[in-house]
This record gives sequence, structure tokens and C-alpha cells, in this order.
Amino acid sequence: MKRANRLTDLPPYPFARWAAEVNAARDQGLDVIRMDIGSPDLPPEDDVVEALYKSARQPDSHGYPGYRGIPELRQAVADYYGRRFGVELDADTQVVPLIGSKEGIVNLALACLDPGDLALVPDPGYAPYTMGAGLAGGEVVTFPLLAENDFLPDLDAIPADVADRAVLMWLNYPNNPTGAIAGLDFFARAVDFAREHDILLCHDAPYCDVTYGDYVAPSLLQVPGAEEVAIEFNSLSKTANMAGWRMGMAVGNAEALAALAQIKSNFDSGIFRPLQEAAARALAADPEWLAARNAIYAERVDVILETLTEVGMAAVRPRAALYVWAKVPAGWTSEGFAQGLLRQTGVAVAPGPFFGAAGEGYVRLSITAPTERVREAMARLSQFVLEQ
Ligand SMILES: Cc1ncc(COP(=O)(O)O)c(C=O)c1O
Repeated sequence: MKRANRLTDLPPYPFARWAAEVNAARDQGLDVIRMDIGSPDLPPEDDVVEALYKSARQPDSHGYPGYRGIPELRQAVADYYGRRFGVELDADTQVVPLIGSKEGIVNLALACLDPGDLALVPDPGYAPYTMGAGLAGGEVVTFPLLAENDFLPDLDAIPADVADRAVLMWLNYPNNPTGAIAGLDFFARAVDFAREHDILLCHDAPYCDVTYGDYVAPSLLQVPGAEEVAIEFNSLSKTANMAGWRMGMAVGNAEALAALAQIKSNFDSGIFRPLQEAAARALAADPEWLAARNAIYAERVDVILETLTEVGMAAVRPRAALYVWAKVPAGWTSEGFAQGLLRQTGVAVAPGPFFGAAGEGYVRLSITAPTERVREAMARLSQFVLEQ
């Protein structure tokens, strides 16, 4: 079989490669605890599953669902943005439902980048920002997210000629993998930066409702005028424990969304109607359900931080998202540590470089295993580190 040249520049998705390591550990008889991927272990709200079932029972639910999402779902997204952020969206032109936000992130690159066009991407960052730009033949320039800057980019450090050439810029807060957060003041500066350099600012916010304590994450679209230069990606994967359902959305700048929808109409044929109806229900989640779910995550964060502190692995307490970003002990590379931990104890964590070169020296621990399993994993990690 001939393999297209673009595959040469598109390495296997890091987690697809890592899955082989995890399976090998399992095949060796290890009791594997997966704290490497951010796939919520808890189910969605009962009413959401009911809505799916009810719609699937309707004889007219099974045809092609249309390209731009059913009006009820687009309106539910607009209502959610209004209620949650005070952001007004036109449901017809400013909302595009996605088959998971990853799909939209990659297709947006195809919609906006010609070969040689430049995309600004955070390092560390979610891999599809880079992969999407690569698929489009674009050039990726990374900007570092450093601990000393609270994992926010230093916009002034991006050279003006690079910024002027950039077509797209990606931001992601609450952040994967660092767990960092950004305030509206930073978002306002990013909007100014995008306007000054004529960049489409793409903010990826799938963790905006996975928050701890009294922290409430803002939308970048809360910045006045942001929709003139920005779109925001969101998802029900983490907010509503629906990662396997593949349900996301892009909102904001109507022109960029029209371009995305045009690409999508050539790739996919919409989302199964019952999924869309259930998603509309999930967007109206009971705040108490969300708070109870987030309290379970918060307990897991506590368990992890307690252990990391005991074994001397530095990590900042996240105020949002599903991850603890921890320094590996001295003398280890990220992948060496993650591999050693997996092969000896069955505990899977993600090596930092999966998210970019600046991730070297870190591992990402995901809090999406049941709490008792997180406790067990931390007992094993503690023994592993202290025995070295
Ligand atoms: C930052 C970020 N964006 C997007 C996604 C993709 O989410 P979805 O399941 O909606 O494709 C993830 C998933 O882990 C993520 O971490």
C-alpha cells in the first residue's frame, strides 16, 4: 500500500502509541490503573441517558440529521453561553456542533490554513493543535507555558514578525496538561494581541465546568468584542462525563464558523439526532449535579497532592481541569519515569513530552480513575519513588 507523504509528518497520536505500552503491562498480568488519559470514569446525568433513549425510540430519529446541527441543540448551546457566561450568541450563525471538539480543532486548521501559513501553539499543549496545522501543511511556531509565568504565555515575547505572519493562535484554559487557569484580564490582552496582528484567536475551553472550590472559569468571549477575532471550542466530554459520545461545539466569530462548517460538510454528515437531543439536555445540567461531581474530583486531587508532597514531586494544586502536572524526581526523564512506573507497578501516567518539548521533566496524572483506585495508585507510586 502506498502511504501518503503527509503520514510521514503526522506521527501516531502519542496516546495511541502509549496504549500499546499499557496493553503490554496488562498482558504481563499487571493490575493497570489508568491515570494517563482524561476520560471521565463517572456517568452522565440519568436524564441525559433517558433523553438519548427516548429520542432513539422515535422512528424518525434515524435519518441523516443535517449538516449544521439541529436548531434545538444550537439554541441549547446559545442558552448555555447566555446563562453561564452572560455571552449572547446567535444560534444560527455563531454555533457549530462538533463530533467532539478534537474533530473541530483539526478541521478548523484545514478551514483556515494554506501550506506555509503559521499557527501559534502553546508548548506544552493539546497535540491536535499541532497535528491539525501539520495536516493543513501549515507551519507551527510554539510559545512556552512556563511555571514561573503561572503557565500563561508571555505575549510580549512573541516576535512581532512571527505574530504578523500568524493566521491562528491557540489558547486553552483551564489548561491541559498543566491545570493552570486564566483570568479575563489575560483574555483581554490576548484579544488585543489577536486584533493587532490580525490573528484568529482560538480558545479551547472543554474544562470550564470542571472546577474546584469557589473557582468559576470565564469564557474568552466575555471580553467585549472578542467575537470579532475569536472562536471558542467547548465540549461535553468533561463537563458532562460524555467523552465517548463525541459531542462538542465551536462558538463565536461567524465567518470562521462558516468556514469550519463548510469543511465539515465535506467530511461528515452531521451527528445522530438522539445524541444531539441528549446533548441539549446535558447543556442544562443541574448545578448541584456538577458541584457533586466536582467534589469527587477535588477529593482525588487531595489524595494525589498528599502523596506527591510526601515523595518530593513538586506540583501546583489545580483549581480546574482533570490533571495534576508533576515534576518527575531528579535523575529521571519523563518517559523513563512513566515507563518504569507502568512496568513495575501498573500505574499509567502521561509523559510530559506528549504535550510538547517543554513538557520534559513532568508527568501528567489524570484524576479520572475511581477514588479508591487513585488511592491505590498513589500507594504504588509512593513505594516506587521511595525505593529508587
Ligand atoms: C484541551 C483539550 N481540548 C480538546 C479535547 C478534546 O475533547 P473532545 O472529547 O471534545 O474531542 C481535549 C481532550 O482531552 C482536551 O484536553
